[in-house]
Amino acid sequence: MSRVRDAFDLSGKVAVVTGAGSGLGRSSAELLAEAGAAVVCGDLLADSSETTAAGIVAAGGVALGVAADVSDRDAHAHLVEQAINLGGHVDIWVNSAGVMHDAKILDLPEDDLDDLITVNLKGTLFGCQAAGRAMIETGGGSIINMASAAMLVPSPDVGGYAMTKAAVVQLSRIMALETGKLGIRVNVVAPGYVPTKMASRYFLNEDGTENPELKELVLGAIAKAAPLRRVGNVDDVGFAVLYLASPASSYVTGQILSPNGGVAMH
Ligand SMILES: NC(=O)c1ccc[n+]([C@@H]2O[C@H](COP(=O)([O-])OP(=O)(O)OC[C@H]3O[C@@H](n4cnc5c(N)ncnc54)[C@H](O)[C@@H]3O)[C@@H](O)[C@H]2O)c1
Repeated sequence: MSRVRDAFDLSGKVAVVTGAGSGLGRSSAELLAEAGAAVVCGDLLADSSETTAAGIVAAGGVALGVAADVSDRDAHAHLVEQAINLGGHVDIWVNSAGVMHDAKILDLPEDDLDDLITVNLKGTLFGCQAAGRAMIETGGGSIINMASAAMLVPSPDVGGYAMTKAAVVQLSRIMALETGKLGIRVNVVAPGYVPTKMASRYFLNEDGTENPELKELVLGAIAKAAPLRRVGNVDDVGFAVLYLASPASSYVTGQILSPNGGVAMH
C-alpha cells in the first residue's frame, strides 16, 4: 500500500477535457490518463482532439477524441454521453478551451468581446452545468476551470480576456459553494505565461510563422519578470490539474491554484 500512489491514482475514473487538442488541455488529458483515468478529449478541431487521444492510446491509456465546440450547449451533452459510453460515469471535468483577443479597453471590438464571453465564460459555464448534472448521479466529482494570472494582474491589451477569466473564478467559487454538499468540488487553475499555440501570438511574423529572435526576446523578458526566472511549460499546469482532479485534493474546493513562477501572488 502506498498513500502517495493511492492519493494520485485515477484508475476507474472517467475525465472530460475541453480544449484537449493543444497546449494545457492536451497536457492535462495526457497526465490524467497516465494516472489511470479514461479521458474524453474534446476540441473544436476534431483532428487535434483525435491526435491527443491517439497519443494517449499509443502510450497504453484509454481515450477518445471528440469534436466539441464549447459555445454549443449540446456539445457538452454529447461529451457527457461519450464519457458514459467510455466508462459509465463522469468523475473529472476540465474546462480548458479558451480564446484570446488583444485590444485596449478603449478599442475592444464588440465581436471580440462576444467571442471571449461566448467561449471563455459561457463555454466554461455550460461545461460546469453538464459536468455537475452528470456528477450528481454518481455522488460527486472534480471540476477544474482554467483561468489565468491575467485575472489577478491588470495587464495592458488583454482586458477583455482578463474580464472573462475573472468571471470564471467567481463562477467556480459560487458553484463550489452550491455543490459541495453534493460531493462536487470546483477549483480553478490560473496559469502564468506558457508558450502554447494561443500564447505564441507575441512572437509571430506577419505571415503567422514564428520569429525565433523575437521569441527569444519575448520569452527572456517574461522569464526575467518571474521570481522563478523561467516561463512555464504545459506540464507545470497539467500537474496542477492532476492534483485538483485526484483524491489528494479531496478537501480542496473553491480555490485557485496558480502555477505562474510567482508573477502573481494571492
Ligand atoms: N498559455 C498560456 O500562457 C495561458 C495562461 C493562462 C491561461 N491560459 C488558458 O489556458 C487554456 C488553454 O490555453 P492554451 O494555452 O492551451 O491554448 P491553445 O491555443 O494551445 O489551446 C486551446 C485549445 O482550445 C481549443 N478551442 C478554442 N475554441 C474552442 C471552442 N469554442 N470549443 C472547443 N475548443 C476550443 C483550440 O482549438 C485549442 O486546441 C485557455 O483557457 C487559456 O485562456 C493559457
